[in-house]
Amino acid sequence: MKAFALAAVGLVALTVPTTSATSIKINTNSKLQRIDGFGFSQAFGRASQFQAAEPEMRKKALDLLFDTKTGAGFSIIRNWIPSTTALSIEPNSPGLASNKPNYTWDGDDEGQIWFTKQAVSYGVKTIYADAWSAPGYMKTNGDEATPGYLCGSTGHTCSTGDWRQAFANYLVQYVKFYKQEGLDITHLGFLNEPDYIASYSQMQISPSAQEAISFIPTLYETVKREHLDLRLTCCDATGWDTQANYTNYLMAAGMQKYLDIISSHMYSSDATFPLKTNLPTWLTEAGVETSSAPFTTTWYDDGALNEGMTWASKLATGFVDAGLSAYLFWEGFEISQNQSASHLVDVLGQDPEPSSIYYAFTMWSRFIRPGANRVAVSGALPNVITAAFQNTDKSVIVIFTNSGNSSQLADVAIPTGKKSSAQVWLTDNNHRVHETNFKRQSSSIEVAVPPNSVVTVKFTSR
Ligand SMILES: *[C@@H]1O[C@H](CO)[C@@H](O)[C@H](O)[C@H]1NC(C)=O
Ligand SMILES: *[C@@H]1O[C@H](CO)[C@@H](O)[C@H](O)[C@H]1NC(C)=O
Ligand SMILES: *[C@@H]1O[C@H](CO)[C@@H](O)[C@H](O)[C@H]1NC(C)=O
Ligand SMILES: *[C@@H]1O[C@H](CO)[C@@H](O)[C@H](O)[C@H]1NC(C)=O
Repeated sequence: MKAFALAAVGLVALTVPTTSATSIKINTNSKLQRIDGFGFSQAFGRASQFQAAEPEMRKKALDLLFDTKTGAGFSIIRNWIPSTTALSIEPNSPGLASNKPNYTWDGDDEGQIWFTKQAVSYGVKTIYADAWSAPGYMKTNGDEATPGYLCGSTGHTCSTGDWRQAFANYLVQYVKFYKQEGLDITHLGFLNEPDYIASYSQMQISPSAQEAISFIPTLYETVKREHLDLRLTCCDATGWDTQANYTNYLMAAGMQKYLDIISSHMYSSDATFPLKTNLPTWLTEAGVETSSAPFTTTWYDDGALNEGMTWASKLATGFVDAGLSAYLFWEGFEISQNQSASHLVDVLGQDPEPSSIYYAFTMWSRFIRPGANRVAVSGALPNVITAAFQNTDKSVIVIFTNSGNSSQLADVAIPTGKKSSAQVWLTDNNHRVHETNFKRQSSSIEVAVPPNSVVTVKFTSR
């Protein structure tokens, strides 16, 4: 095996402690949550910017983001459903909610049609379309970019009528326009951070989620009537704590009948505990808010928010402690925006260059494929989160996230039969998704887990 030769020349000089290895066992019979994938967005004009980039640069960035062999292998994209008048599919109010709408379609959707087609060409099958707001005229305040509620939802009456059915029709029409372009949106959301007051497209719901509860059945029935194969999400709250509260209200109101995914962001609080629901939970937007955290290629220095190691820990906590089924970063590709770390690939010199956060994702997203299940692990290393997954092709992925300052040694029982092959990759300050050596025994492999690193193991049965 190639790794053996590398070890001989000392390419991978790991400090292995003299203590004996800790036994790690994977129980592939204990299926935990399903994994739907990993993703990002190119919303708010970033898809157009991507499309307008020089073709060679564009190709390199697409390969970095979507290629399953050499790149991150992202498998979910999140598009925004624009509500701004210039971009909306229903820019003009029909006057009353009960009047016939006048839809319009430019076939471009701010570059998102091009972007979605690119993603699909790499095998992406999960396309999440999410509305930040209803068009302004459907809201109590008459403006899509200031706080207001959907007219007709519980507690909100408007002189122009009850717009719930019109909003559901509008969302479904957006999905139909994509169908017209040969693209199947698979997941549909109608809120973005409804607990936050922004200076852009937004729509509020109350802490009790009463507005969502009074709209979701209408959306569900409309989707059903149109025979669309769509999964519905709610509510993309600003943080996990808020979404936990919304979820309690949604479940108490029986919304699990209509919804398929509970979705949340992580800005005001991280995903650190499971929500009280049987529905899969997705972290649909994550990023680094502060402008003092620029785009960086530094993996680990002092644990700052823009470092890859910080995100490695967030991913591990999210999948293990919160039971996430998907994790989406905010944006993928941007050009010369290195004042911010809320995107994964940038062009600072000639070529697209990944941030260290990109590598944190890649250690998961390239190896754990959509449809995988998380499975149980026994054995624990200090300061290490160990997560294991079985893919639909039966390969088993084990990920060690060591946020401690000392190296650990794991003896991982081969879960897929003695004839299985094993491969190990390392990301730390000196390596980026680097295939590395390990010691093979008859029924286990011994793997070093350096300080502040992620180690991904793949077992493939023959
Ligand atoms: C529909 O909207 C388009 C512009 O988006 C406009 O040109 C057209 O006249 C409208 N049709 C009606 C019936 O209002
Ligand atoms: C969630 O609900 C609890 C109980 O009503 C409340 O104390 C808490 O402040 C809420 N948290 C958020 C983030 O809204
Ligand atoms: C952004 O990138 C440019 C060019 O590489 C560099 O000169 C500048 O210092 C970077 N800015 C930040 C905030 O990292
Ligand atoms: C690792 O070292 C850093 C810097 O000295 C320290 O802040 C951190 O708490 C240490 N981590 C652990 C898990 O001990």
